[in-house]
Amino acid sequence: MDLQHKLLLVSLCLLLRTSLASRPEGEAEALLRWRSTLLSSTSLSLWSLANPTCSWFGVTCDAAGHVTKLHLSNAGLNGTLHTLYSTALQNLTWLDLSSNDLFDAIPANISMFLTLSVLELSTSNFSGAIPGKQPPDQPRICQALTYS
Ligand SMILES: *[C@@H]1O[C@H](CO)[C@@H](O)[C@H](O)[C@H]1NC(C)=O
Ligand SMILES: *[C@@H]1O[C@H](CO)[C@@H](O)[C@H](O)[C@H]1NC(C)=O
Ligand SMILES: *[C@@H]1O[C@H](CO)[C@@H](O)[C@H](O)[C@H]1NC(C)=O
Ligand SMILES: *[C@@H]1O[C@H](CO)[C@@H](O)[C@H](O)[C@H]1NC(C)=O
Repeated sequence: MDLQHKLLLVSLCLLLRTSLASRPEGEAEALLRWRSTLLSSTSLSLWSLANPTCSWFGVTCDAAGHVTKLHLSNAGLNGTLHTLYSTALQNLTWLDLSSNDLFDAIPANISMFLTLSVLELSTSNFSGAIPGKQPPDQPRICQALTYS
């Protein structure tokens, strides 16, 4: 290989590395990142990049393959919601995390899930206030915003 080709190859590799590094987080990565911060999440043990995200326990997708619902009620989850928010989950309409051992403050960025219409957080150990939705998305009111 001559020098010119070697240089071309090196710059291609650098380009590829940069684009991989700056690739935005996907829905699966976002969910796995949150799971990795939980203290207990046995029911989510089959969440894996080896399986299609839409087949994961508690995950519902739309026809386009975007995650729209998380039904994780009574799933034995122990931990917080601090790392749940991700711009990757831009089609999430339903988030049911009731009856788990989730605790600490509900992070304000949960209200940045602009497509969310149902947020069910009852029967866990959350503390603090429910973050209000900020303008400009006030019309999308949570239908079942309850927690205890
Ligand atoms: C969401 O809020 C929590 C708690 O304030 C914070 O720890 C977390 O980094 C925030 N996530 C994003 C993506 O900003
Ligand atoms: C998912 O969200 C994106 C960004 O908001 C939007 O463009 C797309 O239409 C949504 N997909 C569906 C099936 O609603
Ligand atoms: C959650 O996990 C922590 C650390 O393992 C443990 O101390 C705590 O008792 C657990 N909470 C519940 C409600 O099981
Ligand atoms: C909340 O925490 C208390 C004690 O810290 C515990 O007795 C109770 O079972 C917890 N409730 C839930 C729903 O995890």
